Amino acid sequence: MMRKKVYVTRQIPEAAIDSLREQFDVTVNPHDRVLEREELLAGVRGMDAVLCLLTDVIDSEVFDAAGSQCRIFANYAVGYNNIDVAEASKRGIIVTNTPDVLNDATADLAWALLFAVSRRIAESDRFARAGKFKGWGPMLLLGRDITGKKLGVIGAGRIGFNFASKAKGFDMEILYTSTKPNAEMEKQLGARFVDKETLLREADFISVHVPLTPTTRHYIGETEFKLMKNTAVFINTSRGPVVDEKALIYALKNGEIWGAGLDVFENEPDIEPGLKELDNAVIVPHIASATIETRTNMGLIAARNIVSVLTGGMPEACINPEVLK
Ligand code: GLV
Ligand code: GLV
Repeated sequence: MMRKKVYVTRQIPEAAIDSLREQFDVTVNPHDRVLEREELLAGVRGMDAVLCLLTDVIDSEVFDAAGSQCRIFANYAVGYNNIDVAEASKRGIIVTNTPDVLNDATADLAWALLFAVSRRIAESDRFARAGKFKGWGPMLLLGRDITGKKLGVIGAGRIGFNFASKAKGFDMEILYTSTKPNAEMEKQLGARFVDKETLLREADFISVHVPLTPTTRHYIGETEFKLMKNTAVFINTSRGPVVDEKALIYALKNGEIWGAGLDVFENEPDIEPGLKELDNAVIVPHIASATIETRTNMGLIAARNIVSVLTGGMPEACINPEVLK
C-alpha cells in the first residue's frame, strides 16, 4: 500500500516528526522561517495531512491547493484563529489543535510577565547592564507588591483556570469574567465571577486568556484601559488583536495603567510604533508555549492527531468534530 503523505510547514521538535515518519512519507519545510504563500500552496499539494503553525494562514485557497484527498490540518497551537474552520468543515476536513499540554507553560509565562512588570525586571536589567548601578538606593526602581493583591482573570478556560490556580501562593483574591461562570474556578480557587466592568475597575492585575474570535477582537481598548486602576498591571498572552494596541500605548504613556506585559501583538511580527520605547512595557516575542518540554508535547499531540485520522481513528483534539459524524 502507498504510504500516506504528510507535510509539516516548519521544523518542530524531532520526536514528533519521527513518530510521523514511522508510518508516513513526511516532508518538512527545509527553511527556518515561515513559508511564503506560494511555497505553502506548493507544499501542501497532494498531501493527506498537514501539520501547520499559527503563522500559516489556512483558508480555501490552501484547501484547494492540498486537494480533496487531504483529511486533516493539525495546528501546532492551541489557538486556531489562523484557520478557516467553517470552510474546512464544509469540505469535510478535520482541524485539530494542541490543548492542555501548554496550559502550564502559558500560565507560567503570564506570571513571569506579571512579575517582570510589577518588579521592573527588564528595566532593572537594562539599567544594570548600562553601568548605571551606583549602589543600593532607597528610591531606586520601586515596583509594586504582588502578594495579597487582587487578580483579575479574563477568560475561564483551561489556561485562565491554570493561571488563576497559581495565585494561591501569593494569597490573592481572584476575580474572573467569562462568557459563563466556571463552577470549578469558584469551588477550587474561591474565585468570584464578576462582569467585565467590575473586574477592570477592581483588579490590580489583569490577565487575558480568551481565544481570538470576531467577538473578542479589541475586547480591551480605550474604554477598558480608562476603567482600570492607574496602578493596574495588564498582561496579554492570548492573541494580539484581542487588545487595541494603539489604545494600550496611550494608556501606558499617560499613566492610565502602571504597566503591561505582552507576549502577543496585533500585527506580529510587527510591534506598534511607540511600544518599544516604553519602559513600563515588557515585551517578549510570542514565547508562552516555548519550553523544550511543552513544544515537544505539542508536536506529539499534533502527530497523534494526524496518525488517528489517517488510520481511521478519532483524533484526541478535534475542533470540528461534526466532520467526523
Ligand atoms: C500559541 O500561541 C498557541 O495558540 O498555541
Ligand atoms: C535591601 O537590600 C535590604 O536589606 O533592605
